[in-house]
Amino acid sequence: MKIIGVDQDKCSKCLNCVNYCPASCYKNSTDVNTGIKTIEFNDVYNWCISCGHCVSVCPSNAIEYENIESTYEFEYVNNPASIVNYETLVKIIRARRSIRHFKNKMIPKKEIKAILEAMRYAPTSHNMQQVYYIVITEPEKIEKLKYEAIKLINFYRKIMKYSFFLKLFLPKNVKEILLDPSIKAGMDDMIKQFEERQDVIFHSAPAIIITYSPSMGPTTCLDSAIALTHGMFAAQARGLGTCWIGFSHEALRRYKANNKWLKIPKNMEVTGVLIVGFPEVQYLRAPPRNPVKVQWNP
Ligand SMILES: Cc1cc2nc3c(=O)[nH]c(=O)nc-3n(C[C@H](O)[C@H](O)[C@H](O)COP(=O)(O)O)c2cc1C
Repeated sequence: MKIIGVDQDKCSKCLNCVNYCPASCYKNSTDVNTGIKTIEFNDVYNWCISCGHCVSVCPSNAIEYENIESTYEFEYVNNPASIVNYETLVKIIRARRSIRHFKNKMIPKKEIKAILEAMRYAPTSHNMQQVYYIVITEPEKIEKLKYEAIKLINFYRKIMKYSFFLKLFLPKNVKEILLDPSIKAGMDDMIKQFEERQDVIFHSAPAIIITYSPSMGPTTCLDSAIALTHGMFAAQARGLGTCWIGFSHEALRRYKANNKWLKIPKNMEVTGVLIVGFPEVQYLRAPPRNPVKVQWNP
């Protein structure tokens, strides 16, 4: 959405745009001779992030912009607290589970579209909106992705054998994970189950959503994580279940040759992997979480 300027006839000079623009793109001035006040969109440093807040706060609808759609008609923005109360929202959050058992049922495209629509409204750093999506439903392609993740697990198992060298060279946090015997046992078990033809990576989900973003972006993975989280709740609201698949994400980050068939441009990298499907499990209790670890300062 590109801001073009301010319609001076409509402008009530309330200064909302000046006060609420996060990039200080609006200037107000008063003509010394006539005393006429003018509010201008004056983005000298090209700092406008197209967040649209100026349009959102203008009481006289005086901001001129190139619209990409009619989102401004969204009435609930006036009073977000009225849409869903805190108690209901927390129920939605607490009821979400990572789903690893799915019905053998394809997801209609309109459901995936609904999930993507919710992801689209996620915040992004600098309002860059540089999260791109790939939806994979073809079993052969899912199979290929699965093999890549298994390759990664096998790689980890291999290097774990050289614990002496790992101890010397790896950063502490990675060392702790890779040298933990229970992690190795878990990976051995995954490989065994995989060899028994169980889908230990994607849990036989009918659809996978992959996100990718520009590689050098300072918040590349964060933007996708927020968008995917939006998608998880949207999926839940449509009766679908989801689960992050960190193994696949890591495999696709490491084995960049996949970018070619996934049609990911050269300057981009995979930033997240989510499986989606109709749940075949019903939870009867919500697992507890640790108490919040917080410092109230002061
Ligand atoms: C970044 C991330 C990566 C994850 N990777 C995997 C994975 O590779 N396989 C899997 O089955 N679950 C994966 N999970 C799901 C977590 O195990 C799950 O969120 C956690 O156990 C809490 O359970 P809940 O989501 O049902 O509350 C991942 C979750 C996150 C946030």
